[in-house]
Amino acid sequence: MQKLWSGRFKEKTEKRVESFTSSLSFDTRLWKYDIEGSIAHVRMLGRQKIISKKDAESIIKGLDEIKSEIQAGKFRFLESLEDVHMNIEHALIKKAGPAGGKIHTARSRNDQVALDLRLFLRDEIKEVVKLIRGFQKVIVAVAEKNIDTVMPGYTHLQRAQPVLLSHHLLAYFEMLERDSERFEDCLKRVNVLPLGAAALAGTTLPIDRKYVAGLLKFPAVSENSIDTVSDRDFVIEFISASSMLMVHLSRLSEEIIIWNSDEFGFVELPDAFTTGSSIMPQKKNPDVLELTRGRTGRVYGHLISVLTVMKALPLAYNRDMQEDKEPVFDTVDTVKSCLYILAEMFPKIRFRNKEMEKAAGSGFLTATDIAEYLVKKGMPFRDAHSVTGKIVRYCIDKNMTLTDLNLKDLKQFSKLIGKDIFHYITVEASVNGKTSFGGTSRKTVLARIKEIKKR
Ligand code: ARG
Repeated sequence: MQKLWSGRFKEKTEKRVESFTSSLSFDTRLWKYDIEGSIAHVRMLGRQKIISKKDAESIIKGLDEIKSEIQAGKFRFLESLEDVHMNIEHALIKKAGPAGGKIHTARSRNDQVALDLRLFLRDEIKEVVKLIRGFQKVIVAVAEKNIDTVMPGYTHLQRAQPVLLSHHLLAYFEMLERDSERFEDCLKRVNVLPLGAAALAGTTLPIDRKYVAGLLKFPAVSENSIDTVSDRDFVIEFISASSMLMVHLSRLSEEIIIWNSDEFGFVELPDAFTTGSSIMPQKKNPDVLELTRGRTGRVYGHLISVLTVMKALPLAYNRDMQEDKEPVFDTVDTVKSCLYILAEMFPKIRFRNKEMEKAAGSGFLTATDIAEYLVKKGMPFRDAHSVTGKIVRYCIDKNMTLTDLNLKDLKQFSKLIGKDIFHYITVEASVNGKTSFGGTSRKTVLARIKEIKKR
């Protein structure tokens, strides 16, 4: 196959070099955006009289035909043509003749590939944000449904203080809220037109970049042609936002995995979202959650991979940058599938309220409430902490829990303790007393849910 750039070459490209340099196996994914970008470019060339109206029309017609052929699966991509851009241009020249040869006027593959990638990511970011929002909705619904369930809150994976399950779940709502903000912020920098930077220097032809930006709905045009073809910050930002999202999804997955263990017994997973063991007949494994946790590794890997590709690259375009595509595509696929499956699975998880409440009631989870009770009676917190510590010690020695203590027992530790203390040390009182803004009381959690639902 005659290469579009073959003019200055005497020898044919080595077969191995063709397959080594080709990006076709993955960048065909960009075909739709490549055609969309080319149509806008050609409209501009016609409007600016850089090419004739007639040529512009026959190019657009040819591109539309190519589009239908690809959609119908009838287009033949050729590896010898290196990438998606040259395959489409080559087919166009075959269709539209000399007019087709004008499509690449005032354009280089360097700004073209940046355009395709930005158009692609712009769509995908919107999809990811939609999926995050959907999952957030599911979380709020599950939280609301289980509004009365109390569970132990943990620090150091040790039971710490009683909290509402809904409050714990809504912690993930907040993480996802920041995640979608990060994607939306990243979108601002993705949403900039690179086309018109040409190879790196701009062009002597009278192009109108603002017009192209309008056609492709870019609110901004890139400022510096050298930066434009060298920049993959927007790819790194996207994978970075995705990595943070995966931090959160992996933490959630890990928690449900732990809660699903016999040791915790806090949840039961839906059969349809678990798998069995090939040897142990009794097993029901949380593979969906494990794979979400595991696939976090790929996304981090992609982040490091693109950061490393870009590190110390001299300006402007270098072929190294072709290595951005597989990481970014796989990141898109991974985060979307994780969000999708978690949102499907989540409402079907059965929370074992009784088990959770039982766990919240054992141990000394309301000890801090005793200390705060003493503070309310006028004792400095540090002393209250120490007094309460002694009460706990006493219980441990006598094999009792805090609610087993009577007033006489308690009074030995401080004269400030009255019988009203019993209003403070039950699990329920402990939770519902946490009315500070952002705290775990039923009242504050319901207020947050109400506010979320208003938006
Ligand atoms: N396939 C290339 C990429 O993905 C397109 C740009 C090629 N540019 C060039 N000057 N060889 O980066």
